[in-house]
Amino acid sequence: MKTVRLADDRRIACHPSGHHTPGAVPLVLLHGFCEDSSVWDTLLPFLADTPVWRLDLPGFGGSDLPATVGMAAYAADIRAALDILGIERCVLAGHSMGGYTALAFAKIFPGALAGMSLVHSHPYPDTPERIEGRRRGIEMLQAGKKDLFVAQLFPALFAPRFAQAHPEQVESLVQQGRRQSAEGIIAALQGMIAREEHLGTLRNSAFPVQFILGDQDAIIPLEEALAAATLPTSADIRVLPGVGHLGMIEQAQQTAWMLRDFWQFCVERPA
Ligand code: MLT
Repeated sequence: MKTVRLADDRRIACHPSGHHTPGAVPLVLLHGFCEDSSVWDTLLPFLADTPVWRLDLPGFGGSDLPATVGMAAYAADIRAALDILGIERCVLAGHSMGGYTALAFAKIFPGALAGMSLVHSHPYPDTPERIEGRRRGIEMLQAGKKDLFVAQLFPALFAPRFAQAHPEQVESLVQQGRRQSAEGIIAALQGMIAREEHLGTLRNSAFPVQFILGDQDAIIPLEEALAAATLPTSADIRVLPGVGHLGMIEQAQQTAWMLRDFWQFCVERPA
């Protein structure tokens, strides 16, 4: 792991893996809500020949809390960390909240992207019901009930058959959630409540955009995600059958190969 220090001295944890050559455009992976970079561990055996960086979002894993709340603030910190690592352009892949961050990054720093992959993510803002649920979550966390919050969060994100067959994988993700700080989780909830719509960001994207979706994702209705996937000029749309919100765990090899193929397409196409 490499820890970079931002201009205000906050730390961002960056994990390199795979095969890096000087000047290569890497695949940068951003985890989702209540996770850290280790959520991608299952993919690494299948990405041994790909230059990969996994970054912990501010307030998660080994990264310090964000200075301000919001997806744009996460995106600015990720851009600053990539600058320090000497990475000018990348293919940026984000899982769910990591995808919300990638969309904010795409709006602010489009020239830094050779491609963007949204892994179980979408460009829509929160519905009123979702905002209400997140506010209840903040109250729980402020009341010191982090373990309960996390225990209720993850099991429903897997496709039911997978969760039944692999309780140890569900438990491992719950443990990962428990390692995150309540402050970091609260900042993420506030940031997701405040996030903007990114249909225009997709429509205006000058780089290819990949959508990896699960047809049993309880968070992201497939039809809405597919509607958004028609917006970019160049889109790679993949639907994992029988998969919920966590393709990197439920179908690790397929997800890794989809990401690797997309990365290769993006870096080999003429700029
Ligand atoms: C995530 O996995 O990052 C969350 O499900 C995103 C969300 O709550 O909208």
